[in-house]
Amino acid sequence: MKLSRIVSNQNGVSRKRANALIATGRVSVNGKVCRNPQHDVSEFCGVTADGDVIQQARPSLYLMLNKPVGYLSATFDDTHPTVLELFPPDLKHDLHIGGRLDRASTGLLILTNDGNWSRRLTEPEIKIPKVYLVTTEQPIAEETHRRFSEGIWFEYEQLTTSPAQIEVLQEREARVTIYEGRYHQVKRMFHAVGNRVTSLHRERMGEIRLNEELSPGQYRTLTAAEIASV
Ligand code: URA
Repeated sequence: MKLSRIVSNQNGVSRKRANALIATGRVSVNGKVCRNPQHDVSEFCGVTADGDVIQQARPSLYLMLNKPVGYLSATFDDTHPTVLELFPPDLKHDLHIGGRLDRASTGLLILTNDGNWSRRLTEPEIKIPKVYLVTTEQPIAEETHRRFSEGIWFEYEQLTTSPAQIEVLQEREARVTIYEGRYHQVKRMFHAVGNRVTSLHRERMGEIRLNEELSPGQYRTLTAAEIASV
């Protein structure tokens, strides 16, 4: 949000008055005077006017969870436990999920309170690779390579998925890389080639790789390099 908007909204003054306060050096962003009313200010920045706090600085949170089976990627549910229940109460109110996993799926789940950052992680147009270890009910047919790389038609969304890669590891096990995160995407892709996914584990999103030493249900903060990679 523009600095002038924050100052006028939070201080209850007109945009003109906010611009004047800023131009005369009475407004600071993260402790530094800022005289540019058009300066972009995120929700994480502290803003003061004449020393009074207008917006409290908020710590940004970027976490990876090794999602256990059986937990919903949701903030609240009446029936099933949610992944948010795996975090302490003071953290969980602020967090949202950057790229959901189905209840039965496991592995890398990213949670953050930074909406702009998580949008970049999940937007189909940005094409961040998401890598899954998949086991299937039937042996993986030869034609799966070609069908996945051509893209699979999703009737409901009226679209063809981006070309995906598959590396077959065993008769019924493969590593699959997709570049979007459509609803049940991997399961639906296998369904389209007459197979069924029996387990799905996300290993990586872009440069962010799950630490396999994190036991299911454990989480850690992302490193500065991981955050910057998105
Ligand atoms: N594709 C699926 O089908 N399920 C997931 O949880 C993630 C990707």
